[in-house]
Amino acid sequence: MPGLAAAEHALIAEVLAGLTGPRKTLPPKLFYDEAGCTLFGAITRTPEYYLTRTERALLPRVAAALGKRIPPQAMLVEYGASDESKAELLFSPLRIATYVPVDIATSALAKLAGRMRIRHQAITVHPVAANFLAPFRLPTTTASTPRLGFFPGSTIGNLGHGEAVEFLRRARLALGLGAPLLIGVDLEKPLNILIPAYDDAEGVTAAFNLNVLVRLNREADADFDPALFRHRAAWNTEFRRIEMHLESRVPQSVRVAGRRIKFAAGETIHTENSHKYSEVRFASLAARAGWRVAESWTDPNRLFSVQLLI
Ligand code: AVI
Repeated sequence: MPGLAAAEHALIAEVLAGLTGPRKTLPPKLFYDEAGCTLFGAITRTPEYYLTRTERALLPRVAAALGKRIPPQAMLVEYGASDESKAELLFSPLRIATYVPVDIATSALAKLAGRMRIRHQAITVHPVAANFLAPFRLPTTTASTPRLGFFPGSTIGNLGHGEAVEFLRRARLALGLGAPLLIGVDLEKPLNILIPAYDDAEGVTAAFNLNVLVRLNREADADFDPALFRHRAAWNTEFRRIEMHLESRVPQSVRVAGRRIKFAAGETIHTENSHKYSEVRFASLAARAGWRVAESWTDPNRLFSVQLLI
């Protein structure tokens, strides 16, 4: 399509590759346009989505324990920081001097920086607009500035195992020798808790998933009718993950960037994986990237864990 920026071309090429393969897929990064970020925020407030509130409840305890390990005046590097609400729980207990939120969503980063200027004037903020899965530069500091990496939310679960190991390896190098990484990891649990977390009664997760089609209509010259697709969340026993799909309700053909894409009734587009770990399996994943689990905190129901990698 003439007149498109290189990034838009790349996105459309990725979308078409996903929709024309033997099993239709779309990259989960498509979720996070402005509407998608708002819907994700709403998901975190549904009664079924236990992840965010359980992790938040753990963090004050984690911060108290970390105070003994992390010297004051450290630089906190948060991967995938669409807002500062979790980092905030670490700022004063750890006496953080510099906050480096890294995220691909530039508008969310700008808003975050604005709030930080008002609410945490003593902390220097260096937003980094980057895909944290690709290499990026951290702000230069003196060699003696302690660093702490932070990757909350169990976003690691959205990565395949190879990708997760690659991310952890790269973070270890970027943070530098001796700098720990604090990471939120969702734990395996019975399906009567897990499935509703990804298919809430109010339909917020369904709207989040279907919003991808609305985005493609806007950004990839597509003509999806979202009403002709339904949200599906299912547990994949073999890969220990929740999968989200969009299932075509009817046989149909959809235009995407000048191509016709055919769907059989019941055929799905696989939009996201959310891997769940036992503590043992996560420790072995981290070990493949050179990390060791030094401490792990969980809630009494063992729904979620926050782990310190060194
Ligand atoms: C961002 N990520 C950790 C969420 C998750 O739980 O996998 C994304 C999400 N997808 C559906 N609900 C929430």
